[in-house]
Amino acid sequence: ESIEKGGFEHFMLKEIFEQPKSIGDCMRGRLNAETAHIQLGGLINHLEKLAKAKRIVFVACGTSWHAGLVGEYLFEELARINVEVEYASEFRYRNPIIKEGDFVIAISQSGETADTLAALELAKQKGATILGICNVVGSSIARLTDAGVYTHAGPEIGVASTKAFTAQVTVLAMIAIATAKAKGTIDEGEYRRLLSEMAAVPQKVEEILKLDADIKDISKLFTFASNFIFLGRGINFPVALEGALKLKEISYIHAEGYPAAEMKHGPIALIDEDMPVVFIATKDSSYEKVVSNIQEVKARKGRVIAIINHGDTEVKNMVDFAIEIPTSHEMITPLLASIPLQLLSYHIAVLRGRNVDQPRNLAKSVTVE
Ligand code: G6P
Repeated sequence: ESIEKGGFEHFMLKEIFEQPKSIGDCMRGRLNAETAHIQLGGLINHLEKLAKAKRIVFVACGTSWHAGLVGEYLFEELARINVEVEYASEFRYRNPIIKEGDFVIAISQSGETADTLAALELAKQKGATILGICNVVGSSIARLTDAGVYTHAGPEIGVASTKAFTAQVTVLAMIAIATAKAKGTIDEGEYRRLLSEMAAVPQKVEEILKLDADIKDISKLFTFASNFIFLGRGINFPVALEGALKLKEISYIHAEGYPAAEMKHGPIALIDEDMPVVFIATKDSSYEKVVSNIQEVKARKGRVIAIINHGDTEVKNMVDFAIEIPTSHEMITPLLASIPLQLLSYHIAVLRGRNVDQPRNLAKSVTVE
């Protein structure tokens, strides 16, 4: 087993550190920034139809559902397609409305999650075109779908998903960009910019991983926290949800993710000097608004850890701890901003003596209802 862990203390840490490679593998042979080309073999016969889709419904569970939420922002912003993101377990029991021209896309690392599989079967019966984004080749979901795209992240052993999540988001970004190009909702300049930003992700993730020791130091100060709040806006709202889920799963600390602006409708009541609040505060279209949310938390003595872009002294001077990541296209920031949150959860869980690879009560793949 220690050989399989490749010198890392846990599979989860190994998988976090594999991300420059797994994201690169996911794009290999599919995305070429130099020739300005994206080709997703599995979707060749469906791309044109997808560009005409009236609606896309993502069905998924857990971390894969969070990837679906990132997908919602990607498809709506770039391809101007109406998107819904459904918990597979809810969708399947709700007599969902499926119309002609709807695409139902399952997102699943294992390709075996019982609820996701059942949701897909139902969508198929109702006449939707069903696609899959799976990691495990030949899995039940991959076999059931009309077409799909594998994430090629390699086997994920840690129960808490890390590299499979970033690979799912990478696939979603590639499909959204290809669909937008086919549909003409982005111009050539934007298309090329997105492709080169995507191609730069593995290198940027590599850079973020160098912050591991700093993040471990921050983790030491929060090891005994009993609660955490994660806040983000726009496409980084799902990153906040995923950050909170990761921490819950492996450290057993109660954590909630919220869209930053919703804070004033509830979570703000929880803020005092004992409440750590993690903000994703990268320089994107909601930056100014997030900055004022940070001020609100600081005014109530909350302790703030912020994910910021390199050189952002404004937020750096305002918060207790800043984790600086490279800038990128707004639509691609989730691939970068989620990495420090994985490391934060990992270190806190290890410091608390948790079994990070196999947290209590959780299973890697939930094949029963
Ligand atoms: C379980 C795992 C999660 C995963 C979820 C969905 O809860 O512990 O890590 O996100 O199932 O799994 P799937 O294989 O469908 O992505």
